[in-house]
Amino acid sequence: MTLSAELKPAIPTDAELIERIAGLRKQKNAVILAHYYQVPEIQDIADFVGDSLQLSQQAAETDAEIIVFAGVHFMAETAKILSPQKKVLLPDLNAGCSLADSCPPVDFKRFIDAHPGHRVISYINCSAAIKTMSDVICTSSNAKIIADSFPADEKLIFAPDKNLGSYINGQTGRNMVLWDGSCHVHNQLSDERVIQLKVENPDYKLIAHPECRGPILALADFIGSTAALLEYTKKDSHKHYIVATEGGIIHQMQKASPDKVFLVVPSDETCSCNDCPYMKLNTLQKLYLCLKNETPEILLDADVIEKARKPIVRMLEISKAANIIK
Ligand code: 13P
Ligand code: SF4
Repeated sequence: MTLSAELKPAIPTDAELIERIAGLRKQKNAVILAHYYQVPEIQDIADFVGDSLQLSQQAAETDAEIIVFAGVHFMAETAKILSPQKKVLLPDLNAGCSLADSCPPVDFKRFIDAHPGHRVISYINCSAAIKTMSDVICTSSNAKIIADSFPADEKLIFAPDKNLGSYINGQTGRNMVLWDGSCHVHNQLSDERVIQLKVENPDYKLIAHPECRGPILALADFIGSTAALLEYTKKDSHKHYIVATEGGIIHQMQKASPDKVFLVVPSDETCSCNDCPYMKLNTLQKLYLCLKNETPEILLDADVIEKARKPIVRMLEISKAANIIK
């Protein structure tokens, strides 16, 4: 049986959803935190848009009673660990992360046991269980400083991103033992296409996220976290960029520098899409429903929160001391 046109519930427009979200956010004292890889319409209504480090700091310091995390699961989990008394919501619970998934806790425990005497640095893109096994967490904007915070002769494990770990080994002259994980979005970006783009556009600079593979990083004019890449394009006098990371960041780059041109690096010959399928699961409609129904909520055991909190707080303290965050 089909519903007649009059009986069908009207699908709200984006403008209506934005208005409803604004009303609920105020009424419920909620804050919307969004990562740079979110769709533009979510970035535009968020209270704060940032990279992983900035978002963790916001989550730790917000006065709001509810945190709606427009990002992926490990980010919302980190927010819950830092603000356990708050309700943390994720618009779509399926918004996971291939990099976090590449490091199963049982296997990682064995890996640690196989490397006695090593301290553990884990990239924030990992599950809460991995964080409980770590000495300190890092993000792409502070990974070098976190590695440098250990004595030069300290034996270190770096997990789960082998690309970032290998880049930091090169930057620091260390020989950290690397877990063999990667982000499928960055790992698939094609160095052949980068070279082709550079040949076709010789006046373009290449800027890259350190989750990309070594051959791409070797060609880059600048390497940094999403926030660092954005900042670079704002301050640099150049006008044209090839951007090797997830395409969502282009929204802020173009907003900040409307006169500049940004090309994204495709993954291979057949696909020109470098969207993160997990990040892109969040929509305005899901964000509205999650704020309205206060679900899906991120819940964690108290002992996991307690153990995972220490290495994250350590990261925030080192980052503040190094002036990476205020
Ligand atoms: P940053 O925002 O810290 O650069 O991280 C990128 C990323 O992959 C998030 O999932
Ligand atoms: Fe994970 Fe990669 Fe998506 Fe970031 S871009 S959330 S690392 S899969």
